Amino acid sequence: MKKGVFICLIISLMTNLFAQDNKSIVLNPPSRDRGKTVIDALWQRSSPREFDTKKISDQDLSDLLWAANGINRPEEGKRTAPSAVNAQDIDIFVFNDTGVYLYNAQNHRLQLVVKGDNRKIFSSTETETLPSLLLLLVSDISRFRIGEETVKLEWAAIDAGIVAQNILLFCTSIDMVGRPRAFMNKESIKELLKLNEKQYPVLNIPVSYKKK
Ligand SMILES: Cc1cc2nc3c(=O)[nH]c(=O)nc-3n(C[C@H](O)[C@H](O)[C@H](O)COP(=O)(O)O)c2cc1C
Repeated sequence: MKKGVFICLIISLMTNLFAQDNKSIVLNPPSRDRGKTVIDALWQRSSPREFDTKKISDQDLSDLLWAANGINRPEEGKRTAPSAVNAQDIDIFVFNDTGVYLYNAQNHRLQLVVKGDNRKIFSSTETETLPSLLLLLVSDISRFRIGEETVKLEWAAIDAGIVAQNILLFCTSIDMVGRPRAFMNKESIKELLKLNEKQYPVLNIPVSYKKK
């Protein structure tokens, strides 16, 4: 009997920790207490050009995405990053060596979008060392219910900038690094991710542990 309970527990743990259906990864619960102070992170933040290749731990990935744009007030469904008219227009696509995933803040999971390593789509040279993780910030401007198109594009850029700074300060606070980059091959990215005409890639941010 005890053995049966133990096996059930292992199976349910595996189901929770890894992939419910091979398409979604449940992230660890976000931490409540860790990292340097905001003032320390501000003193240390910088944008390096070289990145480490060590795999990002499950807890660091979970905390990074939550800090970036996770839900911090579940009763209202609101986020760590503000957004114009609370449109919550910024989606985060996570590129690693196994695939491209969309961060689902509502249930704190990663949903598989494309299988395989596509990090090279952000490289300008063949020889560039790939960071362990690349975060792509995409604004879906169809979520702005008011405003002219030009205003929506302004809001999209501002909202992405705020999410980016959450990422950069959180990274610095746990001795990770990141570099915000506007240059990227947007057409290839849109094709790979099958983005529609209202989804704008705004910034990509390679992140890794600090290179020793
Ligand atoms: C909106 C924005 C776009 C940027 N685009 C790029 C980019 O495409 N490529 C790049 O190497 N760095 C890019 N950067 C990084 C800046 O060059 C970098 O932040 C700047 O040189 C200041 O350095 P620091 O971040 O270390 O203070 C961008 C930064 C911002 C804020």
